Amino acid sequence: MMFQIWLHVVLLFCGLFSNVTGEFLKFKHPSIYRYLLWDHAGAFVGVNIRTAVSNMPSAPDIVSMLRANQITHVRLFDSDAHMLNALANTGIEVMVSVTNQEVLGIGELPSTAAAWVTKNIAAYVPSTNITAIAVGSEVLTTLPHAAPILVPAMSNLHKALVASNINYQVKVSTPNSMDVISRSFPPSAATFNTTLNSTIFQILQFLRSTKSFYMLNAYPYYEYVKSNGIFPLDYALFKPLSPVKQIVDPNTLFHYNSMFDALIDATYNSIADLNFSGIPIVVTETGWPSFGGSIEPDATSGNAELYINNLIRRVSNDSGPPSQPAVPINTYIYELFNEDKRAGPVSERNWGLLFTNGTSVYSLALGNAEITGANSSSSFCIARPGADDKSLQDGLNWACGNGQANCAAIQRGQPCFNPDTLQNHASYAYNDYYQKMRGSGGTCDFGGTATITTVDPSYGSCRFTGSIKPGFMYDSLLICIKWLQFELLGWGVSTSGTWTSWAVLGERKDSRHPSFWHNSCCYSVFGPCEFEKLFVDTLRFYPYFAELVFMLC
Ligand SMILES: *[C@@H]1O[C@H](CO)[C@@H](O)[C@H](O)[C@H]1NC(C)=O
Ligand SMILES: *[C@@H]1O[C@H](CO)[C@@H](O)[C@H](O)[C@H]1NC(C)=O
Ligand SMILES: *[C@@H]1O[C@H](CO)[C@@H](O)[C@H](O)[C@H]1NC(C)=O
Ligand SMILES: *[C@@H]1O[C@H](CO)[C@@H](O)[C@H](O)[C@H]1NC(C)=O
Ligand SMILES: *[C@@H]1O[C@H](CO)[C@@H](O)[C@H](O)[C@H]1NC(C)=O
Ligand SMILES: *[C@@H]1O[C@H](CO)[C@@H](O)[C@H](O)[C@H]1NC(C)=O
Ligand SMILES: *[C@@H]1O[C@H](CO)[C@@H](O)[C@H](O)[C@H]1NC(C)=O
Repeated sequence: MMFQIWLHVVLLFCGLFSNVTGEFLKFKHPSIYRYLLWDHAGAFVGVNIRTAVSNMPSAPDIVSMLRANQITHVRLFDSDAHMLNALANTGIEVMVSVTNQEVLGIGELPSTAAAWVTKNIAAYVPSTNITAIAVGSEVLTTLPHAAPILVPAMSNLHKALVASNINYQVKVSTPNSMDVISRSFPPSAATFNTTLNSTIFQILQFLRSTKSFYMLNAYPYYEYVKSNGIFPLDYALFKPLSPVKQIVDPNTLFHYNSMFDALIDATYNSIADLNFSGIPIVVTETGWPSFGGSIEPDATSGNAELYINNLIRRVSNDSGPPSQPAVPINTYIYELFNEDKRAGPVSERNWGLLFTNGTSVYSLALGNAEITGANSSSSFCIARPGADDKSLQDGLNWACGNGQANCAAIQRGQPCFNPDTLQNHASYAYNDYYQKMRGSGGTCDFGGTATITTVDPSYGSCRFTGSIKPGFMYDSLLICIKWLQFELLGWGVSTSGTWTSWAVLGERKDSRHPSFWHNSCCYSVFGPCEFEKLFVDTLRFYPYFAELVFMLC
């Protein structure tokens, strides 16, 4: 009961000072953080829906499955009326497609384009939230003879949208595969295949003038398989690379943590090579097959699960690729269902996320996309007692560097800095890395200097990642206490007339115990910390205040 009231106050407070408290909450309690970000319009991860499936579920059933998995964006490969009706009033954003067969007619006759828009778009908006038309699928590489008609088709559709006054809401573009780029590595040197120059140039002109985006089908799976071992599998699966295997672009010195990022940058650079800029890329297809034939050893459900879940994490972090860090990478996963009716290698029938009965092929983190931090856990990774200092230092450097552990808490003045020992700092960093990465294959090893423990190593206000130690674990709650005093209970205690210093206590201990004060540490958000003075005063005159503070530590 008490906790609920307090939580309410905290959220109000965080709304007012989110730039301060957001940073604390981010790493301490991801689910609250997610709640706070509910309306945050970040990058999205959508799903492609194709239909070469026996037992294809009904359109309403498909929509139920989308909702159950919190999928907010879909791309259809056609303009199926059942799906467009079922998607009405769901809030799900829809990209529809002109099939490759339809491109020719639409490119030749503006009236065909107008009829197509009337029948397949205008009839459904606004109740079905159609936001884009994908014109054909990889036309330039699969139907090169149709290339001359592609831009006229896009342009005719756009004009029809203008005539219906829905051109601002519905964008027109065309998905290209990576095959339109001659050589994708290093990304800085990538260019479009020169035989496609004039068509791509016209496409980019069209996209720029209509404020549309470039549709990219990017498959690290195929690039990895084609590379014959030049690139490590970890790189294709978004796993952290060991220091000796970093992928660096020799011209820009950008480090590529994933092949996905590198493919997108190769495309941005190819666009820049034709002197275009400001056209964002949306990844219209990417994925990983969960099963393959005997010559497709990398098509496994383990790899697919890693790829997809790491992809979701990557996209949800909202950053762009190294060359365009501020442009989020909106992405559609290929694809919703395994398409058992497709021809080709075994893997071709195993790209799906779901079986047609709605159960997932492997475990998925869709809808949890904003959570990139800790997973509460009953095992922790700490430095092995007795490990030598040199190895610990190497492990610590790696974890906080390439391992991307969040090492803020072990910096001087932060809650996990003391005790200031290698053993303690390495434990914190190892564990942060381990909690974040074990889902994607990260291990608790660090050259033999790490070990697993089931004992939560958190102490005082130092909370190890994954800790579910009692009650509230984020210290920033204490910042709110004074608000409670002022706003809710109407107490006001001021030492020297100001409330500029804030205290964060250590372990929850009886305040009469001498070590209570001893183990405490201070955070000062708005000014110098005057912890001792403040609390001595407060305790002396307002005993309840101290009680409340204890509850939140
Ligand atoms: C459709 O999606 C767009 C883009 O996210 C959004 O701005 C708009 O509010 C949505 N419209 C409806 C009716 O949901
Ligand atoms: C460029 O495209 C042409 C025609 O599609 C193809 O024959 C050629 O191999 C491609 N060049 C490169 C370097 O990919
Ligand atoms: C394509 O562009 C490149 C570089 O801009 C140029 O060298 C090449 O001649 C062009 N090819 C064609 C077919 O236009
Ligand atoms: C791009 O711009 C540069 C500098 O203005 C110019 O030299 C180059 O020819 C242009 N390339 C294309 C493909 O237009
Ligand atoms: C987001 O991802 C990029 C690329 O992997 C990485 O450089 C960056 O540090 C990440 N940001 C956060 C906040 O995790
Ligand atoms: C759903 O279908 C898959 C594949 O056919 C099957 O393995 C799974 O047991 C089914 N799940 C349920 C709940 O019926
Ligand atoms: C948290 O970790 C447990 C144990 O490793 C795992 O089973 C669970 O799926 C994880 N949850 C999330 C959301 O990653």
